[in-house]
Amino acid sequence: MTEEKENRSQNYGNRLWKHPKVEKAKQLLLEAVEEETCKITGIKEPDSDLKQSYGELLNELAACRGGKLRYPYIGSGLGRGALVELCDGSVKYDFITGIGVHFFGHSHPGVISASIDGAISNTIMEGHLQQNEDSLELLKILRDASKLPHAFLTTSGAMAVENALKIAFQKKTPAYRILAFEHCFAGRTMSLAQLTDKAIMREGLPSSMHVDYVPFFDSKNPEKSTEDALFALKKYLLRYPAQYGAMVFELVQGEGGFNCAPREFFVGLMQVLKEHHIAVIVDEVQTFGRLPELFAYQYFNLSEYVDICTIGKMSVVCATLFSDEYTPRAGLLSQTFTSSTVAIRTATMTLETLLKGGFYGPEGKISKFHNHFVSKLEAIAKRHPSLIKGPFGIGGMIAFTPYGGEVAWVTKMANSLFDAGLICFTAGSDPMRIRLLPPLGVLMIEDIDRACEIIEETLTDQQQGFKDQ
Ligand SMILES: Cc1ncc(COP(=O)(O)O)c(C=O)c1O
Repeated sequence: MTEEKENRSQNYGNRLWKHPKVEKAKQLLLEAVEEETCKITGIKEPDSDLKQSYGELLNELAACRGGKLRYPYIGSGLGRGALVELCDGSVKYDFITGIGVHFFGHSHPGVISASIDGAISNTIMEGHLQQNEDSLELLKILRDASKLPHAFLTTSGAMAVENALKIAFQKKTPAYRILAFEHCFAGRTMSLAQLTDKAIMREGLPSSMHVDYVPFFDSKNPEKSTEDALFALKKYLLRYPAQYGAMVFELVQGEGGFNCAPREFFVGLMQVLKEHHIAVIVDEVQTFGRLPELFAYQYFNLSEYVDICTIGKMSVVCATLFSDEYTPRAGLLSQTFTSSTVAIRTATMTLETLLKGGFYGPEGKISKFHNHFVSKLEAIAKRHPSLIKGPFGIGGMIAFTPYGGEVAWVTKMANSLFDAGLICFTAGSDPMRIRLLPPLGVLMIEDIDRACEIIEETLTDQQQGFKDQ
């Protein structure tokens, strides 16, 4: 709690969190967690006694949710740093963290402590009619860090992007079209299934929004792809004058395969959008907190162009941030739930730690982890040039392309990595890559080294089959 807040807060509620019994109870809980987590020291095979019951658990879960899980992952609720324990007693390195959610890995004392504070609050879920002071604290952190004066909190990345689109369209009414990049991903609501450039996600769905796609930067063809993107944008603006509400930018494409572009690529497009008074929405649901600056648009030095920004995943609470100019009229945004109090307190703790913890800047922890990871993966690529390409990505978003990016082989490799004790995920489809979103808040150099050993072992174990095909 800040000093300013402490002086103001003479109510019973604010005294509760400093109550000696609460502090003692928290201490006991954290000690109990530590007593169990300290036994988690490295990768562990599943317990043979638990194999059958785990199989049954997986089948039951698949039946309840109406489909199999992507990985046979049911967590026990405990872990340590980058390591996570599953219900079958196995322990694995978690280098995908629920697709970029658990920035502080597993069973982190700071996260548990913030969650306990949230759990003893009277309010389970905050929302339209029920905001506690902790919401304001989080909003102020976002405002000060982003330099965007307003933010609306929400429970999912998709809802944050939906809110961004609504704000942009209301300002530009009666505009009804939207611009986005090829291979972009925006979420899974009806309209975001239209925006996302992936046909399988809108199979069988009616069209609810007109989307026009601009090609993304191609590092193999930098000048031509930059020209092509500008050409496409200008052509759309001529074809549909005054009909665009916004263009959505993912500055590092997440689901698309960790595709990157230089600042100039974005500047050219954003300048044209500004000339046409079309909103620039930066979707940072995946990039937020993971690049060598808190916001990816700060890393690319694009702050002056951003009208609306969405964040999610590692921020625990998702949000739509916007400038004064894009303040929506009353009634446009409202939700029963903006987030749980546990999530809001955890988000605040996460951001406070990140902002004072030496994570950002060229000498920050994220850059150091990136450089180490890259040097290790480059060495693997040098030893096995026919098996792996890359690495790709920026900061704590790292990807590589094994086996020529062939979907079947990359999927097989992701599964083999899981079995070997390293949880990663795929991204993109042509080529498909393996992507890593490691828990940067607790990551250690040794974790990266061990992960790279597993990657190399798995890569070479499967090479014969790949070469023989
Ligand atoms: C760039 C981007 N936008 C939006 C979303 C949707 O977020 P959520 O899954 O929390 O709804 C995602 C999720 O992967 C994303 O990567």
